[in-house]
Amino acid sequence: MPRKILVTSALPYANGPTHLGHVTETVQTDIWVRFQRLRGHDCLYVCADDTHGTPIMLRAQAEGVSPEQLIAQVGVERRSSFERFLISFDNYYTTHSTENRHYTERVFKALDAAGHIARRTVRQAYDEQAGMFLPDRYVKGTCPRCGAADQYGDSCESCSATYSPLELKDPVSVVSGTRPVERESEHLFFRLGDFGDFLRRFSRSGALQEAVANKLDEWFEAGLKDWDISRDAPYFGFEIPGHPGKYFYVWLDAPIGYMASFANFCARTGRDFDAYWRPGGDTSLYHFIGKDILYFHSLFWPATLEGSGFRLPDGVFVHGFLTINGQKMSKSRGTFITAERYLEHLPAEYFRYFLAAKLTSGVEDIDMNLEEFAARVNSEIVGKLVNIASRCAGFITRGHGGALAGALPDPALHAEFVAAGEPIAALYEGREYASAIREIMALADRANLYIDQAKPWLAAKDPARAAEVQAVCTQGLNLFRVLMAYLKPVLPDMAVRAEAFLQAPLARWNEVANPLVGTRLRPYEPLATRVEPAQVQAIVDAPKPAAPAKPGPQAAPAVAPAATEIAIEDFQRVDLRVARIEAAEAVEGADKLLRLTVDVGGERRNVFAGIRKAYDPAALVGRHVVVVANLRPRKMRFGVSEGMVLAAGSGGDDIFLVSPDAGAQPGMQVK
Ligand code: MSP
Ligand code: ZN
Repeated sequence: MPRKILVTSALPYANGPTHLGHVTETVQTDIWVRFQRLRGHDCLYVCADDTHGTPIMLRAQAEGVSPEQLIAQVGVERRSSFERFLISFDNYYTTHSTENRHYTERVFKALDAAGHIARRTVRQAYDEQAGMFLPDRYVKGTCPRCGAADQYGDSCESCSATYSPLELKDPVSVVSGTRPVERESEHLFFRLGDFGDFLRRFSRSGALQEAVANKLDEWFEAGLKDWDISRDAPYFGFEIPGHPGKYFYVWLDAPIGYMASFANFCARTGRDFDAYWRPGGDTSLYHFIGKDILYFHSLFWPATLEGSGFRLPDGVFVHGFLTINGQKMSKSRGTFITAERYLEHLPAEYFRYFLAAKLTSGVEDIDMNLEEFAARVNSEIVGKLVNIASRCAGFITRGHGGALAGALPDPALHAEFVAAGEPIAALYEGREYASAIREIMALADRANLYIDQAKPWLAAKDPARAAEVQAVCTQGLNLFRVLMAYLKPVLPDMAVRAEAFLQAPLARWNEVANPLVGTRLRPYEPLATRVEPAQVQAIVDAPKPAAPAKPGPQAAPAVAPAATEIAIEDFQRVDLRVARIEAAEAVEGADKLLRLTVDVGGERRNVFAGIRKAYDPAALVGRHVVVVANLRPRKMRFGVSEGMVLAAGSGGDDIFLVSPDAGAQPGMQVK
């Protein structure tokens, strides 16, 4: 029975360009959607730009355009980027739409009528010059606890204290540069606590991954707090009916944007909206999201749906973050890769393939190591997959006028490939793409081995063996065709070109059960070409020399003056050692710190390092670094640090660990 499925990706914020992180999510979703369609299901995929909120309002002001103009421009660019990455949306819309206003009001009224909306007065920082209330991140100042300068209004990056903006010493509004005052305002709150029992059940209903449900348990334990869903004017969003001057907070109307985009699609196509959004229907609903927006999608969203009489998602699929060479994408490192930047240098399908080869159903981060990227594209797509077709095609076109043989010489081998289809399908269904790709590539190896053993290039020298050459190559091309069908969700464009070459459609997953025999090919054109490592390197910026520290009244010297001279004996007192990172984890409550367990040559040390902004802990395990091994242990808030890891850079995400060349062993002295 074909399933009726509605799928979404998170709605990208309209305040910036599309980057490879966004693309990671839409590609993961798109592969799943295309897979479902190939299996004959009725699978719809909608998304939109998330257009409301203070940052968008302020950015429009700064650029001297209206927010509507800004989001229209971003929307045009976004659609084009996603299209070039072959994302097969049925609708890409915007949250600034009449449909979204309609459903947001409807949800709010239903929640209010059922008593789930509370009214409370809040005190907030107010910028008198700009005439607006300030979100916490728009106030900066000196940390009231440790005195670190230039901290955000919600927490200190230096000592990780949390506070409210007006507790900062000398608070300053980021918007006008003036000192904010405190002002009261009445806000509307969604009483999340009303849904405690419901959410506990939902979290174990099978809609969430196990790791995600465990995370929810922590939140349940901490208690479900009311959620402030209103903002004061000026705000770019929807005014709340019956509350002049109050606007819906962007995160209330954003997920409702899923509904609104779908409603817009229904109006265009005559589909039945209610069949997908009323409880108890025969349709299913799945959301793909990143781990950073879990709270919104696993607590607020199901509770708002439940409280306003809509259906619940059958699955909220959470993925990790894309990192580049083991590090978070970062503008200062030149690794913040926009979709357009990537596409200037490389084909979209190579990224789709690489991601597929990395993606699992888990929430772990996904690393794009640029060397590995080039190696896998070249060895797997070009060297294994396409190689099968290019090796066989010439013999058929040159020697046999493009005609395939009338029968397969090894039908059992073909049947083996066909039989692998169901286990591979199960892997796609379960979002275990990496395993699916591994299975497919194992088959590609098998197909290449078949050709290696049959050696058509030798047989082709003997006119008497022409039929054998034709048969072997017909077999090879049929094996290729099966693989192309299995890869069609990942490589849709290459699949279309393969269909044209083979003159046979791959419209359904099991279409390949019947081998292609006795038909004619079109002349072969290369389906993929190798990438040069330099081409891949070009998607990131060359590392920039560190910018000079903040220019003070006197111009800063280009190079920092050398520290006071020391004697060689002084240096020799410092015991520098090669160490291997055995384990790395974030420190709860300190958003700069990682706790590292390092092996300094048979001895384990616990070391805290302020590198969390720059490094993904998982990517550090196994890495060799240099530590100061005889540093007096220091007691910190989170434990004792027994050494120091060496790194260059100015801090934040601008940090570069010092690593020895390959071959250095833990415990070796560095001098
Ligand atoms: N506007 C909200 C989502 C509202 S959904 C009702 C938002 N926008 S976003 O532009 O910041 O992110 C959009 C999606 O991209 C999120 O799912 C986010 O997790 C994902 N990613 C952003 N950076 C990412 C990576 N580096 N890697 C993978 N996904 C990432 O959040
Ligand atoms: Zn502090």
